Order: sequence, then C-alpha cells, then structure tokens
Amino acid sequence: MRVRAVRRSRFTLLTSSIGKKIAAAVSGSILLGFLLVHMLGNLKAFGGIQPGAPDGRGGLWEIDEYARFLRSMGAPLVPRGALLWTLRIVLISALVTHVALVVDLARRNRGTRPLGYARTNYAKASLTARTMMWSGMTVLVFLVLHLLHFTTGSLAGPTWDPSAVHAHLSHAFRKPWLAGLYLLALAALFPHVRHGAWSAVQTLGWNDPRRDARLRALATAFALLVVLGFASVPIAFLAGWVPDSTLAVPGATP
Ligand code: HEM
Repeated sequence: MRVRAVRRSRFTLLTSSIGKKIAAAVSGSILLGFLLVHMLGNLKAFGGIQPGAPDGRGGLWEIDEYARFLRSMGAPLVPRGALLWTLRIVLISALVTHVALVVDLARRNRGTRPLGYARTNYAKASLTARTMMWSGMTVLVFLVLHLLHFTTGSLAGPTWDPSAVHAHLSHAFRKPWLAGLYLLALAALFPHVRHGAWSAVQTLGWNDPRRDARLRALATAFALLVVLGFASVPIAFLAGWVPDSTLAVPGATP
C-alpha cells in the first residue's frame, strides 16, 4: 500500500508542472554541458598540423586528430564508435525531453493564467525571457542545418570526407555569407544560453537573494564564453588567421 502510494507520488511529481520544470532544467543543463565541451573541441581548429602524423595529405590537423579520437573513444575496451553513439543517444534524449517539456509548459502557462494575470506578468518578464521560444527555435533550425552540413555532409557537396574537419571548416568559413550565418545563429544562442542557465539555477533551487547577482553574472559569463569561443572559429577562418586547408579536400574549390 505504502509502496504504491510512494510510486504514485513519484509519478505525480514527474507529471506535475514542477516535475516537468526540473526535468527541463536537467535536460537543458546536459545541453549546456555539451555546448561547452563542443566549443572547447572546436578551438582545436587553431592547433595547426601535428608533426609526424602523415595521413596522405601531408599531415594531420589537430582538429582532425580530435575527430578521430571522438570516433574511437573507449576502443578497444568497447567497439569503435560505441561510446560516441552512447553520448549521442544521451544528447538526443536530452534535446527531445527539453523541447517537448518547454513547449508543454509554455502551453500550460498560457492556458492556466487567470484573467488579468498574463498582461502584468508578461510586462514584468525580461525581453530575453519573452523571446526564449523564438531564440530556441532559431537554434533548433540552425542545429538541423549544422548537422546536415558538418556531421552527415549532406549540404557539404560531393567532396565530403568526415575525417577532414579542418578542411571543411576552412572551405565553409572562407565564404562570408556562411560565416555570417553561423554568427547570426550564435547571436540567437547567446540570450538562450544566458537565460537558460539562470532559469536552471532557479528551478533547481540554487538561487539565494544574497548571491543572485553573482549567479546572474556567472550565467552571462558562461554564455559569453560559449558564444565567443564558437564565434572565434568562423571569424578566424574568414580573416585568414588560420591556414587555408581547402586544397586538402579532393576536388574542393577554395
Ligand atoms: C561556429 C560554431 C560551430 C562550429 C564551427 C561547429 C563545428 C562542428 C563540426 C566540425 C562538427 C562535426 C564534428 C565531427 O564530425 O567530428 C560539429 C558537430 C556537431 N555540432 Fe557543431 N559547431 C558549431 C556550433 C554548434 C552549436 C551552436 C551547436 C548546438 C546548438 C552545435 C551542435 C553540434 C552537434 C549536436 C554536432 C554532432 C556531434 C556528433 O557528431 O555527435 N554546434 N560541429
């Protein structure tokens, strides 16, 4: 009887607004962690060619070596690619959970507000809070195009070679329109990450009036770090601060 009651209360927590908010905050935090790790990995584009690691194109770029490491992580203990796919499944689950829950919570919020409450509350919310859905959708559209571009190579043309990451970055970001598109997407990512990080802190109950100002500043610093770190890559290729490796992609036009 008691076990059933505990199970029921756990289920109620999961399906209640607060349970959903917590799950949205946890899944959002997993995505924030991914963004930080992905940004740090991208900085390897500044790493140059690894000496003594010939790969048939005269050397292996540090970012290509990193991509190779990601694909063989955990081997030979686990089959090649198994750990990468496990992480991808965690990431996809976090993304689906996060999007489904925030959409559901937004819909519920709209449906349950008492008359007269919506307007005052809406006016009080910051511009970032009010535009979270829009910035989130922009990031989502960017993500789909980005995966088709750099992960599956569907938008990259017939020269696609998943192991030539540096050459593909070089090929893509020497085009001002493409670098500009990435920078625009990152402009939408900044408010989303900043407000998302701050909201997660509040939902998980880590905020406290004595340190709220510091926590808010930390959320802003985190968002700036992630976005500026990402932005440094297209900017550096566009400005020619990193060597042009496009000729390494067979048949690619620089
Ligand atoms: C200028 C910014 C960015 C650059 C240069 C960049 C670059 C890349 C590259 C080269 C890959 C393929 C890596 C490989 O196959 O080894 C990749 C994969 C990926 N990127 Fe980005 N990225 C950027 C921003 C973002 C952002 C903002 C997000 C999320 C909103 C994102 C999400 C992903 C995901 C989910 C993958 C697939 C990872 C996997 O294969 O498991 N990227 N990115």
